Amino acid sequence: MKVDSRIKACVFDAYGTLFDFSSAVARCPDVPNEHRINLTTLWRDKQLQYTWLRSLQADYVDFWQVTGDALDFALDSLGLGTPGRRAALMDLYRTLSPYPEVADVLRQLRTAGVRTAILSNGTPQMLSDAISAGGLEGLFDEVLSADMAGRFKTDPAVYQLALDALALPARAISFQSSNGWDAYGASAFGMRVVWCNRYGQKPERLPGHPDAEVKTLAELPAIIFGRWN
Ligand code: LAC
Repeated sequence: MKVDSRIKACVFDAYGTLFDFSSAVARCPDVPNEHRINLTTLWRDKQLQYTWLRSLQADYVDFWQVTGDALDFALDSLGLGTPGRRAALMDLYRTLSPYPEVADVLRQLRTAGVRTAILSNGTPQMLSDAISAGGLEGLFDEVLSADMAGRFKTDPAVYQLALDALALPARAISFQSSNGWDAYGASAFGMRVVWCNRYGQKPERLPGHPDAEVKTLAELPAIIFGRWN
C-alpha cells in the first residue's frame, strides 16, 4: 500500500477519541445506576467548559485540576459527593479504557511508515498513565500535552506543538478528534482533519471544516492510504 506523500503523521486527541471517558464512571461500583449517564455527561461538559473559561480568564491550571474541579461540581450537583467516591473516580480517570480499534489502527499506520502522536489537553502524567493502562506503549512517536504550552485547545499554540515536535507543516498532518469543536479548531489552524464522530454530533458552526468524517477510527487507514494517496 502506498502512503499518501502529503500525510506524514496522524495526530490524535486523547479523551473521547483514543480513550473512552465514560469508562471511569462505568467501572466505579459506587455510583448508583440511575446517575451514571448524567454524571459522565456533566463531568465531561464541565471539564471542557472550565478549559475554555480559564482560557478566557487567562488563569491556566492543568487538566488534572480542571478534571477534579469539574468532578466536584458534577458530584455536588447530583448530590453524590463523598470523598471516597471522588478519589475512586479520579483514580479511574487515570486508566480509562482505549476504544477497541485503537491499537490495531495505530499499528497499521506505523507499519506503513506514518508517524503517530497524541495531542491532548491531558497532563503528561495523565497521558502516560492512560497509555500504560491501555497497553499502548511504543505506539506513539510523540505524546504532546497542552500543558507544554500552558494553554488549552483550541488555542493555536496547542496545535502548533504538533508541528514543532514532528517538524512537519500543518498540511502533512492528519488530526483526529471525536470532539467537533476540536476537529474544527485543528482544521481552522490548517491541519488535515478526520472527525471521528463517535457520538453522532451535528456539524459545528465554527471556523474550520473537517476533511472527512468517520464513525470509529477503524475507518482511518482507508482514508490515509486511499483517498489521500
Ligand atoms: C483532549 C480532550 C479535549 O484529549 O479530549 O484534549
